[in-house]
Amino acid sequence: MTNVDYAAVEQEVRRELAHAPAGEPAMTRAVEILKARVPDYTWVGIYQLFSNELVLGPFRGKPSPHTRIPLGRGICGAAAAEKETIIVDDVNADPRYLACSVDTRSEIVVPIMRGTEVLGEIDIDSDRVGAFGPSDRRMLEAIAGVLSEKWDGAR
Ligand code: SME
Repeated sequence: MTNVDYAAVEQEVRRELAHAPAGEPAMTRAVEILKARVPDYTWVGIYQLFSNELVLGPFRGKPSPHTRIPLGRGICGAAAAEKETIIVDDVNADPRYLACSVDTRSEIVVPIMRGTEVLGEIDIDSDRVGAFGPSDRRMLEAIAGVLSEKWDGAR
């Protein structure tokens, strides 16, 4: 619903990540751009999957209590287990939700894949109900693909 130019944001991430060192610097840059360009993105972070646990890497927004999430727990753990993007329009109506901030109303989690392996995921919270639609999903899945290519050195 916002006036976000999704194609421009995706292009900016592609351009910036082409020059960023792989691993943490690339993740940090992607997180910074997404948080800065999309007003509805209140909290933007990247989790890395280490064996059966998601470990919080770079993020922008208030510190989260959930720095480690077991596979299968929360929306984050569900997306990693299912290897699929999950959009939750109203987090208060989803029993899987692990609260990060009382202001959060909706969430999208996009797995970062290499083939069939989950490397990690992009997690974004919004203070607005139903903030994430097909345009967010399309852009973030494309950016997850870019992050997958820039993953080496992250683990
Ligand atoms: N809400 C997530 C936990 C992470 S915080 O949003 C940063 C979940 O339910 O998995």
